[in-house]
Amino acid sequence: MIKIVLASNNRNKLDELRGILNSKKVRVLSLADIGFKGDTEETGETLAENALIKARAVWAKAKGSVVFADDTGLEVDYLAKAPGVYSARFAGPQCSFEDNNRKLLKLLKGVKSKDRGANFRTIVAVIYEDGTEETFEGNVKGKIGLSEKGDMGFGYDPVFYPENSKKTYAQMLPKEKNSLSHRKKAAVNALKGIRKKLHI
Ligand code: IMP
Repeated sequence: MIKIVLASNNRNKLDELRGILNSKKVRVLSLADIGFKGDTEETGETLAENALIKARAVWAKAKGSVVFADDTGLEVDYLAKAPGVYSARFAGPQCSFEDNNRKLLKLLKGVKSKDRGANFRTIVAVIYEDGTEETFEGNVKGKIGLSEKGDMGFGYDPVFYPENSKKTYAQMLPKEKNSLSHRKKAAVNALKGIRKKLHI
C-alpha cells in the first residue's frame, strides 16, 4: 500500500483526489492525518515552482509517504497567458473569485469569440520518500464566455467553457467537471508516474 499525502488544506481537492487516486494499492492522506499544521506562502514565479514549494514544505513531516501538491493557473490567449500563476490574486491581494471574474470579463469586453481562447493548466509536484522530485502536467483548452454562467464549482468556473462544451465548468455537476478537468488530467499523469517509479 502506497500512502500519498496531499499538501493542501482544501477539502474539495482532497475529496476530488481521493476519488481519482484511492485504490487497493493507494491511500490518500490529508495534512491533518500526518499532523502537519500551517500554510505555505506561494512565492514562486511559475506553477511548477509553487507546486514544489508546497510539496517541499510538507515532505520532512511525511515520512513513509509520497507527497503530492498541485498548482493551477488560467492562461488567457488575449492577455498573453495572464493571469497564469497569479490566478488567485488577479484582482488584488484579498480579492474574491467574483472580483477576478469581473476583472477578466472587463478586460475581454468587445473581444470576439474566436479570440477568447484560454487554457487551464495544473502542475502536480511529487516528492518521493528518498527526496526525488518530479512534476506532471494537465491541460484543458477552452474559451472565456461573455458573462458568468452557472453556480457550481469555484474560481473561474462560471466563465470557462472547456473545448467542445456548451456548458461552463460551473454549469457541470462536480462529477462531470472532475471527470474532464485540468486537475484530473494532471493527477492521472502523476499517478502513472508514481506507479512507474514505485513499481506498483
Ligand atoms: P490553486 O493553485 O489550485 O490554488 O489555484 C489557484 C487559483 O486558480 C484559484 O484561486 C482559482 O482562482 C483558480 N483555479 C484553480 N483551479 C480551478 C478550477 O478548477 N476552476 C476554476 N478556477 C480554478
